[in-house]
Amino acid sequence: MPLSPEGEAFRAAIDIVAASEPAVAKAIAGELDNQRHQLKLIASENYASPAVLLAMGNWLSDKYAEGTPGHRFYAGCQFVDEVETLAAEHAKALFGADHAYVQPHSGIDANLVAYWSILARRVETPALAEAGASNVNDLSPQAWESLRHALHGQRLLGMSLDAGGHLTHGFRPNISGKLFEHASYGVSPETGLIDYDDVASKAREWRPLVIVAGYSAYPRNPNFALMAEIASDVGATLLVDMAHFAGLVAGKVLTGDLDPVPHADVVTSTTHKSLRGPRGGIVLCTQEYAPYVDKGCPMVLGGPLPHVMAAKAVALAEARRDEFRVYATRIVDNARALAEGLLRRGVTLVTGGTDNHIVLADVGSSFGLTGRQAEPALLESGIVTNRNSVPMDPNGAWYTSGIRMGTPALTTLGFGTSEMDEVADIFSTALRATATETPTTKARFTLDPQVAAACRQRCAELLGRHPLYPGVEL
Ligand SMILES: Cc1ncc(COP(=O)(O)O)c(C=O)c1O
Repeated sequence: MPLSPEGEAFRAAIDIVAASEPAVAKAIAGELDNQRHQLKLIASENYASPAVLLAMGNWLSDKYAEGTPGHRFYAGCQFVDEVETLAAEHAKALFGADHAYVQPHSGIDANLVAYWSILARRVETPALAEAGASNVNDLSPQAWESLRHALHGQRLLGMSLDAGGHLTHGFRPNISGKLFEHASYGVSPETGLIDYDDVASKAREWRPLVIVAGYSAYPRNPNFALMAEIASDVGATLLVDMAHFAGLVAGKVLTGDLDPVPHADVVTSTTHKSLRGPRGGIVLCTQEYAPYVDKGCPMVLGGPLPHVMAAKAVALAEARRDEFRVYATRIVDNARALAEGLLRRGVTLVTGGTDNHIVLADVGSSFGLTGRQAEPALLESGIVTNRNSVPMDPNGAWYTSGIRMGTPALTTLGFGTSEMDEVADIFSTALRATATETPTTKARFTLDPQVAAACRQRCAELLGRHPLYPGVEL
């Protein structure tokens, strides 16, 4: 097949990299090969467009640009100003936000910017006003010490990890758990769904400064109007982390009460999951929080990554097109087809199905396996996933009882609902041929090699119908 223009571009790039360090060129080619030969069901991954990928590989990377457009601590930032402003304008228009900050390097950084902006607005600013100071540098040592304690003495309420929350939502291994006193809300043990009465009563009891909504592994759509009401009743700031489902918000699948932007004070996101952009983060907020969010650098970030902001601008422009709405709708149709296919084959799903891009299979009750066993068995069978806790997981966060799947990547390739049904069949065929090794362990397993080979063949046939980056040969 002749090389496409993208093919020419990537071929030239890889040859140039190979001339400096062949091992890196080899790893890049290996990664593409892997992605072409695995059925990607990792819910947090996608395939960015060649335009997004190529926008990152250039000299914008060499420029320092601390500050914000027009207010930099370095000279010569004219073109960085252009790409940052463009990315922010696209983000505001796409999500209907008052303000957008596109510098965070990742989702964790976006959440850090959000937390410190809320603390700056709600704790630091009143303390400065009380002391008659305009800047923390003007505070006396005693006033500064008391403010530092106040900044570290605040409370946060977020979704528990086993219910699908994220480590950055107040958990001890992450800085958010060291910064805030944390309490969490879970899901109903009967339905697996968020119980808003329970969230409200926890909020009244805990009186948090910040309530965090959003998830990494919840297959339904939270009601952000209800979360905003709960936050407002207790005087908390509502932060929604839409890292996972930003693509569904961008594609107008999630509207009204399911769209966080009109309801939350601050919304954070990654740009590389369902939104299909470069790896990175963004923060959207109301005008009230805008001046604080804009101080992400130097508050918690160093200089921005101008090449990644350029790629964010490209991806956000792509997400504003009508095709992206079709894409987002198909992500959800495909997830539903995958869920129905699994249910028909006797697989237990958390919450009994899905309304978004995620399907969370309970492989403990369905196949007698841990996630730690199912994940490599699936990989050997041609499907790449990740293990995940299920609510009240008896196997804990390492071994787990769940396999999390998501449809953004396969939908980008062009998979449709009947193909998702076949994916469900390959999944259940592979795990039915997997057994816990005796004596019983939570990690080792046996997998019938003939079944694994047949599954790999079926995955290859599906992927053959929807080639990744056709016209690119390295
Ligand atoms: C809800 C949520 N927030 C934040 C993050 C962190 O994103 P990153 O890996 O870009 O730091 C993730 C990533 O898994 C996530 O799922």
